[in-house]
Amino acid sequence: MTNIATPILLGALLCLTAIPGATAQTAKKPIDDAIVEKYLASTFSKAPPEWQSRIKPDETLAACNKFRNEVPPAEAEKIVARETAKVKFPADGKLMGDWKSGAKIANEGRGNQFSDPPGTTAGGNCYACHQMEAAELSYGTLGPSLTGYGKAWKNDPEAIKRAYAKVYDSQSQVACSNMPRFGANGVLTEAQIKDIIAFLFDPQSPVNK
Ligand code: HEC
Repeated sequence: MTNIATPILLGALLCLTAIPGATAQTAKKPIDDAIVEKYLASTFSKAPPEWQSRIKPDETLAACNKFRNEVPPAEAEKIVARETAKVKFPADGKLMGDWKSGAKIANEGRGNQFSDPPGTTAGGNCYACHQMEAAELSYGTLGPSLTGYGKAWKNDPEAIKRAYAKVYDSQSQVACSNMPRFGANGVLTEAQIKDIIAFLFDPQSPVNK
């Protein structure tokens, strides 16, 4: 499994530290908080001091870290409820923007790294984990292929809404998802998420060709 090492994903990276010889059963045993903290601190030691707060997991990531992403069902329910409450739908009710802009945002891997010049606009880096338009040959496979996504869902308004919520806060749908919480964590703006949703659903978008 590969992963991109943006700070928002540090929680997810914990799954790479499985104790040698541990079985699937023991992986669900809660990990001691001190071990998690020590590990997180070691992964981000070169970041400037003002960035160190970025590795402080919020309540949701702390729970996922503690159980190596396999939280007990009651905890998963709590996470999904907490993250669902964070999802803000656009006030104008429009969930789709410009697919051409969305295509660029999906391809842009920059943003929220401490080496970025100030004011850098972050992208979604979707191709790091998903296949999207069929012509793009370079993509990761941690997430499912999204090629033909809008066509497959026949532009069902509920599917569009679900995709918006997924991109806004992935953990509102999968408690310990590896996918970043783009809207909830302020990585992407509302307008950028609308453009991404258009890229997924617009019949003119190459995703659906
Ligand atoms: C670090 C990896 C990663 C990145 C980056 C990522 N995703 Fe995902 N995504 C996943 C994984 C893993 C799943 C499936 C499991 C889950 O939901 O957690 C998923 C699921 C989805 C789904 C639901 C698919 C379905 O089953 O219907 C959508 C839609 C989606 N991603 C869109 C996006 C978009 C758009 C971007 C870029 C803004 C993006 N993802 C970036 C990992 C990622």
